[in-house]
Amino acid sequence: MMADRFGDELAAIVGEKHVQRGDTVDERYRTDISRKYATAPGWAVRPGSTAEVSAIMRAAHAAGISVTAIGGQSGTSGAAVPSDGGLAISLERMNRVHAIDTLSMTMDVEAGCILQIAQEAAEVQGAFLPLDLGARGSAMIGGTIGTNAGGNRVVRWGMMRDMVIGLEAVLADGTVVSSLTKMLKDNAGYHWKHLLIGSEGTLGIVTRAVLRLRPLPTTRQTALVAAPGFEQMIRVMRRLEVSLSGQLSSFELMWADFYETLTTAQLPQRPRPMPSGYGIYALVEAMGGNEALDGQMFEQALAVLMEEGLLSDAVIAQSDQQREALWAVREDLSPGFTPRRPFVAYDVSMAIADMPAFVDLALANLKQAVPDATSLFYGHAGDGNLHANVSNGTMDAATKAAFDTAIFRAVSSFGGSISAEHGIGMDRLPYIGMTRTAEELDLMRTIKRAIDPKGILNPGKVFTMDAQ
Ligand code: LAC
Ligand code: ZN
Repeated sequence: MMADRFGDELAAIVGEKHVQRGDTVDERYRTDISRKYATAPGWAVRPGSTAEVSAIMRAAHAAGISVTAIGGQSGTSGAAVPSDGGLAISLERMNRVHAIDTLSMTMDVEAGCILQIAQEAAEVQGAFLPLDLGARGSAMIGGTIGTNAGGNRVVRWGMMRDMVIGLEAVLADGTVVSSLTKMLKDNAGYHWKHLLIGSEGTLGIVTRAVLRLRPLPTTRQTALVAAPGFEQMIRVMRRLEVSLSGQLSSFELMWADFYETLTTAQLPQRPRPMPSGYGIYALVEAMGGNEALDGQMFEQALAVLMEEGLLSDAVIAQSDQQREALWAVREDLSPGFTPRRPFVAYDVSMAIADMPAFVDLALANLKQAVPDATSLFYGHAGDGNLHANVSNGTMDAATKAAFDTAIFRAVSSFGGSISAEHGIGMDRLPYIGMTRTAEELDLMRTIKRAIDPKGILNPGKVFTMDAQ
């Protein structure tokens, strides 16, 4: 065996059983859920504490080895895929919930804790961690911070950025910066945590956080609704924001083709909850605290919208089982999406009012670029965040680039963002200039150079260090 001094250093820090070298590095540390990337990291390491992460970073810094933080790998943009010959540092052993404070309404949790485990830990204490997304069973807290995850409840409780009160992270040279406070209000200088949130592992390794919780809602109403068109549906959302007295917590939009394709593919699992053929669909959820009245308020609010013709149809879940079946229409993506493989999934955003015109332009651009491409649109309406699944049944670099250009040109002409949720990673890096100005990118580079002068933290992600 060849001498492996760096591997031996890692083993001295965490123990040999938590180090993998070269060819022995697990598949799960080489790629993400998109499976588009297959890299050959030099090492993978699983630290058990912040002190170990710090020692690892000191060693990597001294050796000039690049480091990529590995979470649940539910990302799709290649942001958490290590470099060839680099170090993959998995936070999976640092998965403890240290404390839940139901008076301050905070949770102190390590980065490797799976989102769903954190949600459940809060729930047994009568508290609520509002962040929720399809990948809840695999995404780790550190990854949701690194990507500033959004998901299904942003319309009411915001993104991960809005829930991170305190943060602990290890910088490129091993310095531990820690501010595990429980205060919502803190204006003593720069909030450095906001630099790390959403930085996709390029500025530090998040090791632990204090998250903001809410008292656990005791009622939950869920409905699938249909409207004649987009504008009516957005008016429905705006009306519900008021008529549900602040309880509206999800408003997931599904274009008619998406609904038709997904529910048809799901027929072996569950009946279609509502006919296809309406103009547009949405999954609506409200969470509140009045068991006697919330159900009635929800029914009445939808009934009024039906009478006014803003809604064409509505199905309200009458049990948890029915609620799960309604959510599955939106979240059980694989039966509908698998036959479309290979496909590209987009997560763009723009002003809500621009969404239909964007869809028209994106479709026109796509038709011109790849005439046999088909697209399914869905998204988080309240956030102006639109997902598109685009496919023509084949995929090569040229087709992918044609899809990207068609979609991102349309985004750009509405002043939108090429990524509302999934991040830039490697996948969208060539296009960041379509969504950020040269001055903005220069500012990002200045920050990166100041915090990680050797450029060892997740290089080749988000933007290049040379002006493009
Ligand atoms: C969703 C993921 C794709 O919203 O962001 O389902
Ligand atoms: Zn999403």
